[in-house]
Amino acid sequence: MKTKYRILRLLSLFLIGIIVKCKNVENKKGEYNSDMKERELVESRGGVEIKKSDFGKTSDGKIVEKYSVSNASGLEMNVINYGGIITSLKIPDKNGKYEDVVLGLDNIKDYEDGSPYFGAIIGRYGNRIANAKFSLDGKDYKLDANNGPNSLHGGKKGFDKVIWNVEPNSGENEASLKLSYMSPDGEGGFPGNLQITVTYTLNSNNELYVNYEATTDEKTVINLTQHTYFNLTGDFSKKVLDHIVEINADSFLPVNKTLIPTGKLKPVAGTPFDFTEPKTISKGITQENSNEQLNIGGGFDHSWILNKENKEVAFAASAYEPESGRFMEVYTSEPAIQFYTGNFLDGSLPAKGGGEYEKRSGFCMETQHYPDSPNQENFPSTILKPGETYTSETSYKFSVK
Ligand code: GLA
Repeated sequence: MKTKYRILRLLSLFLIGIIVKCKNVENKKGEYNSDMKERELVESRGGVEIKKSDFGKTSDGKIVEKYSVSNASGLEMNVINYGGIITSLKIPDKNGKYEDVVLGLDNIKDYEDGSPYFGAIIGRYGNRIANAKFSLDGKDYKLDANNGPNSLHGGKKGFDKVIWNVEPNSGENEASLKLSYMSPDGEGGFPGNLQITVTYTLNSNNELYVNYEATTDEKTVINLTQHTYFNLTGDFSKKVLDHIVEINADSFLPVNKTLIPTGKLKPVAGTPFDFTEPKTISKGITQENSNEQLNIGGGFDHSWILNKENKEVAFAASAYEPESGRFMEVYTSEPAIQFYTGNFLDGSLPAKGGGEYEKRSGFCMETQHYPDSPNQENFPSTILKPGETYTSETSYKFSVK
């Protein structure tokens, strides 16, 4: 009896040993499985998921990570921590076909080498500040002049070119990426240590929210925006001219030869800038030669003053692409929107999936304060003081019709 018991005991110990060993192999496989390393699931709840993978390395050796956020209905957005860039956004057409509708580049080198702000977070100051200078309380600040005499989109190294800290989160019906960055005092010439967070939230209603927040330790100016170029056809070899656009604005800001607002508001009525009733982009742009403002911009590249009160979130603009049926609506708390029709794209940048980005292969709807506000007393203020919190919200709603 005793011997029988001993044999059984030895046998079971042996078996347990084998099971533990196998489990270890399995564990090791899981841990070191190359697929897992490349695309790691970091959040998953309900229908939403966030996956993380490597996108590449910057020229100064920093790892660039890519976050893939998807919702229950299948929308997928990719964001990299470099510039907070939305590198792709797949949404369905009226037949349920998912295609990428935002312009972007295939690798980090191309982004570093000269992206025209594709998909990026823009700061500290979206759009131009005349002659790259402004003064605050009698003190003059000299900024980077990176666009002729002017400062554009934060200067030489704006928020589109920095590495953001990313914190993924998932809620009941939404997934979000909270991006944060501390812009040191004097960066680009701007005063104050500025702490910024930008949160991208994709929900199950096919809405993308972009929420901005910032605080400073010294009086400064701020104007953040998002510079995604859309092409709702899902085919980057096509131009965006047939998109039907509506802009909820009765006036816009005419600009001088270097694209700085003259300071006067001009009613859109009777001009190609009237998008109060939806019309194709091409309908306005065909008047490029006869309209001085379109001629200066090489197309639309202006700030429309939205019909809204102060900081209330209101409908700003929409774009409808009839062939695919894709429809995008933009809502914002900002007072203006820069509608830009990809006028500077010139066929020199490689498109995702082949070909090149030609003039007007994308358009931007950049919600923001007016350009050059720090130098224009009549424009709504872009000043941020210590103790205050800058907040701004823009959402993009995708559907088909
Ligand atoms: C903004 C500006 C344009 C251009 C693009 C980026 O939309 O208004 O003039 O600089 O950014 O190329």
